[in-house]
Amino acid sequence: MNRLGLHIWLVAIAVLITAGTYAQKYTADTGYQLPDVLLTQSGKKITSAKDWEKSRRAEILKLFEENVQGKTPAKKMPLKFVTLSINTHALNGTATRKQVRAYFTTDEKYYMDILLYLPGNTGKPAPVFLGLNFGGNQAVHADTGIFISQRWFRYANAPAYINHYATEASRGAQSNDWEVEKILAAGYGLATVYYGDLQPDSAGSVNAGIAPLFYKAGQTKPADDEWGAIGIWAWGLSRAMDYLETDKDVDAKKVAVVGHSRLGKTALWAGAQDKRFAIVISNNSGEGGAAITRRKYGETIAIMNKAFPHWFSGHFKKYNDRENDLPVDFHELIALIAPRPVYIASASDDQWADPAGEYQSGYYASPVYNLYGLQGLISVTPPGINTPVSEGSIGYHMRQGEHAMRLYDWQQYIRFADRFFRK
Ligand code: GCU
Repeated sequence: MNRLGLHIWLVAIAVLITAGTYAQKYTADTGYQLPDVLLTQSGKKITSAKDWEKSRRAEILKLFEENVQGKTPAKKMPLKFVTLSINTHALNGTATRKQVRAYFTTDEKYYMDILLYLPGNTGKPAPVFLGLNFGGNQAVHADTGIFISQRWFRYANAPAYINHYATEASRGAQSNDWEVEKILAAGYGLATVYYGDLQPDSAGSVNAGIAPLFYKAGQTKPADDEWGAIGIWAWGLSRAMDYLETDKDVDAKKVAVVGHSRLGKTALWAGAQDKRFAIVISNNSGEGGAAITRRKYGETIAIMNKAFPHWFSGHFKKYNDRENDLPVDFHELIALIAPRPVYIASASDDQWADPAGEYQSGYYASPVYNLYGLQGLISVTPPGINTPVSEGSIGYHMRQGEHAMRLYDWQQYIRFADRFFRK
């Protein structure tokens, strides 16, 4: 065999091995047993909301911290909020736009920028959807008053992002995911932060984010039981909530935290840890978010940890190809949000995120909602495409189409939030 032939063979073998490892498996495993959300590790059955809160909830939260997302540091930072701009006649006079810089400490290189739109002329504090964004605040809407993020981006798709930095052309680049006018017209505000303000979404760049603020002397990266990027981004959502609580134009008791995909995983973790989030919304969060991991359908723990080693804790790597050994499954992440309303959305073309597994985590979290006398999801089978089930405190729909956050999703979130926020 000549050298070229050998080379082709080697490449072919490598491709086969990789394909085997990363095979996109679209049949669910069935021979697994889900951890019983109401059974404590010492074998006690939980039968009341009081017992759930007293023992089992804390136990599950700890299991997620220790095995999945990693621990969030308890240390309080000396936050400072500086309003950089306010425009009370934004979006053709229909809205107020505020841009607020939240400094995390006295070293002013650590900050995040909050973009906040509020519906105009309501004369009362507004309920707000809060979510991290992927493209920078300026990508959320074409509004030329939004400051362009100077941070590093995962994207390098010119002209919007050149060499991983945003240009003018990135304005409104992701406005399809953020229905700003529709949200405002429904009487809600929208608060958003670029997730890269907290930590760049790239393996090996943890020290370019806020993690070093929490290091012990001599520490150079988070320990195996400490947070990864998902934990850091979720921390940022809580700091944005700290700001919202200070803004008199916001009804901080009515903040719904929302996120798409990896930021949906993040929204769930933020909502699980921080009870100030009154509603939690997961848009196509998939593996490590709403999907039941034991199904091993679509993305798995091993695939995710290999592609994105920086998202979860070091300890989570122990469960690569060993999902049955994980002491929790992701219906228990949903259960941590109880009794607050939670909404899980899938998309029909997004099999990678396992729509049926996302539904099932809502279904198997329902017993905890029942303890509070609340309805979760009743049917073990997911509904059809574009058929939301959202009469109870757990909402679900599978939108027809791709992995994204679209108008249809927002319409369901607004309808769901209206039920709780506009009583
Ligand atoms: C990849 C990844 C998912 C993630 C998604 C996203 O597809 O495998 O886990 O949710 O990216 O964040 O868009």
